[in-house]
Amino acid sequence: MNDAQDVQVQYRDDQNLNARIALHARFSTNPYGWQRWVFDILERAGLPDHAQVLELGCGPGDLWESNRARIPAGWSLTLTDASDGMIEAAQQKLRELPMAPTFRTVDAQSIPFADRAFDALIANHMLYHVPDRQQALGEVRRVLKPGGTLFATTVGEEHMKELWNLVEPFVPDIHDRTQGVSRAFMLQNGGEQLARVFSNVARYDYEDGLEVTEVQPVVAYLRSSTTLMHCTLEPSQWATIRRTVAAHIETKGTFHITKASGIFVAS
Ligand SMILES: C[S@@+](CC[C@H](N)C(=O)[O-])C[C@H]1O[C@@H](n2cnc3c(N)ncnc32)[C@H](O)[C@@H]1O
Repeated sequence: MNDAQDVQVQYRDDQNLNARIALHARFSTNPYGWQRWVFDILERAGLPDHAQVLELGCGPGDLWESNRARIPAGWSLTLTDASDGMIEAAQQKLRELPMAPTFRTVDAQSIPFADRAFDALIANHMLYHVPDRQQALGEVRRVLKPGGTLFATTVGEEHMKELWNLVEPFVPDIHDRTQGVSRAFMLQNGGEQLARVFSNVARYDYEDGLEVTEVQPVVAYLRSSTTLMHCTLEPSQWATIRRTVAAHIETKGTFHITKASGIFVAS
């Protein structure tokens, strides 16, 4: 369900991820903003003024784009992802960032940097994709300085459940499939995994939901995830999904989707 080839196809470039980010950006109920909240947590950790910061699985670099005015001038950023396409997208997006990050294609299971090189390591919504997570966490520990901090965001069991309920009539095990992608490292089980490697692990949850008032962004989100879920829907099934969402919006004013996301801070 989460094999390396599917993950590669899914993240060949930033298109699929952008369709999902667009739904969150337009219809989230918490006006504070996810990336801003994640950056608050980084700030609260009291990193040094000249922190060496490594991000694994940076995707198109939205954490830095959303917080560009807040990044301390002395930080040195190394942004990495297993996908060349993601690195190109991040480079493009962040080319005017004053501290000129270093970009590099890196698999989290084999981090090509020296021991004790970084004060902070960020792994947002990516550890569940890594086939050998114990190996990756060992690498994380190796490249962190003593007292360094790992920040790792992920989702919880209930995340986006109403969205996948739309597909369930056609793919009865869809909830197993969606959980198959993220189950390996969720809010419910990530803490235990980190506690095997770090002595202090704290979890913080972000309160949010989606109230969607248009059909198309819901369909675009679902379409963006079909390779990872191994499912192909017929045109008539897509039409049924469209009608169901439209009927919700018509009668209730919105199509509600539960969100469950949070961050682990481990040192
Ligand atoms: C859900 S996206 C998250 C992107 C970004 N961190 C964010 O929160 O918006 C997952 C990212 O992890 C990357 N990824 C998947 N497996 C990886 C691995 N083994 N090592 C490094 N990156 C990986 C993917 O290419 C993709 O860009």
